Amino acid sequence: MKDAILVARNLTRHFAVGGSLFRKADTLRAVEDVSLSVRRGETLAIVGESGCGKSTLARMLMRLIAPTSGEMEFEGRQIDRASGRELTELRRDMQFIFQDPFSSLNPRATVGRLVGEPLETHAPELSAAERRGRVAELLRQVGLRPEHAERYPHEFSGGQRQRIGIARALASGPKLIIGDEPVSALDVSVQAQVINLLADLRDRLGLTLVVIAHDLAVIRHMSDRVAVMYLGRIVEEGTTDEIFSRPRHPYTMALLSAIPVAEHGLTRQQIPLTGEMPSPVDPPPGCSFNTRCPFARDACREEIPALRETGLEPGHRAACHFFEEIAAEAASPIPESGPGRTPGAEARFRLYANAIAGVAIRTKRPEPRTPERSKEAT
Ligand SMILES: Nc1ncnc2c1ncn2[C@@H]1O[C@H](COP(=O)(O)OP(=O)(O)OP(=O)(O)O)[C@@H](O)[C@H]1O
Ligand code: SF4
Ligand SMILES: [Mg+2]
Repeated sequence: MKDAILVARNLTRHFAVGGSLFRKADTLRAVEDVSLSVRRGETLAIVGESGCGKSTLARMLMRLIAPTSGEMEFEGRQIDRASGRELTELRRDMQFIFQDPFSSLNPRATVGRLVGEPLETHAPELSAAERRGRVAELLRQVGLRPEHAERYPHEFSGGQRQRIGIARALASGPKLIIGDEPVSALDVSVQAQVINLLADLRDRLGLTLVVIAHDLAVIRHMSDRVAVMYLGRIVEEGTTDEIFSRPRHPYTMALLSAIPVAEHGLTRQQIPLTGEMPSPVDPPPGCSFNTRCPFARDACREEIPALRETGLEPGHRAACHFFEEIAAEAASPIPESGPGRTPGAEARFRLYANAIAGVAIRTKRPEPRTPERSKEAT
């Protein structure tokens, strides 16, 4: 197993919101008790709906904001209290790529200056000519031309601007890059190019990547492992293959079911995610997914489920009290008749069986139903 380059233990970040002279502030629980480990050379994807805490987690991992509690290690060194020289070194070793390349680039600086700036801090020994040479090399690495150094960000397309952002991130010679939705502001046609570039740079330069995305489809072909977040917590993690083929958390199944199927003749049963994600100011007691989970029962409203091994591939973990039962229920056919065959059971079976059996992504278009079955379907 590859060694861990970045380890987070029980990371929590709360924000005080809505306070005034007359009113005590509320506590917004953006990230709650997140533990994860990023292995050297891998790509870890962090996926979840808007507002689930992905960016807050990424900013903590980068030490751009401090955790409310919890610990972090980078290459075995404790970094959650790092300051001064230690923090400067960390900034060299860990770099960030932003979602919106335009707003993160100073519009009045030339590309040469933007990409060369980090070199002034991290490689002050370079002469001006050496720095220009290094900038040209960085631009080539990201698929731009050295003469682009003379131009300004507004002269480039969205995809090219993201390439500038990547060149800038590479300038300090980082070991790990965290991309916060690095392609979600780009046209779909350009997304794949930027993803391929990141994967190629990872392999050529021996980088480790953490990529944040809304959408599982975006990260499927570039990530080795996936962590799924919901309301500040990781609810499932595992290798990408395992998450896509044997999801165990009902939330992951719902996310997977939302990915459009491109192949002709194939379709998928969509699992509707009803309702909104609850407010992180007032999260539900027990399992954070209980307000939207079709399997929720009393225990789910009382106890927070631990993120535990699924017993499938080692390292595949899910935070659900009942994933074994849910998997067993979906795997066993519902009775042809009798009390077990309620419309609710039928609907649940149809929604989840495919996901749990690992065919959620490529379910064949269902056979036309017999008149008898269609009467019972909901
Ligand atoms: N500085 C802050 N002050 C107060 N609340 C914050 C702050 N930063 C983030 N939050 C809140 O924390 C929660 C998580 O936000 P975060 O930006 O981490 O989510 P996200 O998963 O990155 O969302 P998105 O997909 O929309 O980018 C949200 O409710 C957000 O409003
Ligand atoms: S613990 Fe309960 S509410 Fe949470 S995902 Fe599992 S079944 Fe659903
Ligand atoms: Mg975000």
